[in-house]
Amino acid sequence: MGDERIAAVDEVPTDGTLLYTLADDGDEREAILLQLSDGTVTSFLNYCMHWTDVKLDTGDGAPVRNGDVVCRKHAATFEKDSGVCTHGPCEGAQLDRVEVAVRDGDVYLADGDYEFVRTGADEDDPVDLSTSPGSRLGF
Ligand code: FES
Repeated sequence: MGDERIAAVDEVPTDGTLLYTLADDGDEREAILLQLSDGTVTSFLNYCMHWTDVKLDTGDGAPVRNGDVVCRKHAATFEKDSGVCTHGPCEGAQLDRVEVAVRDGDVYLADGDYEFVRTGADEDDPVDLSTSPGSRLGF
């Protein structure tokens, strides 16, 4: 743990997100990497805090506007550094953080709760979760 390289920092966009897949006790889950303007890299699980069955990054990078990640569904915005929703139906909620570390220009998984699987989508999850039923908060 803590020594699993995810990607080069240069591969992480500042105006989007890099999708990757983790294993959580054997179950694959998607997460996203984000790069701040100072080169800091953060990571969160890839779902919105409003409707948790909605992915932020559907495979082509989540949109970033004014430095915040934007959910395509109802336009909630999340700070890249904290993951806190600053505007939208889940304002005040916080994305689930995944600990990562930058070393020698590469991003490593540094979270003992997960194992790195691959960059890209969860291949066992071909369903577009933005349209499937699931747990939803009552906003
Ligand atoms: S599902 Fe993301 S803002 Fe509603």
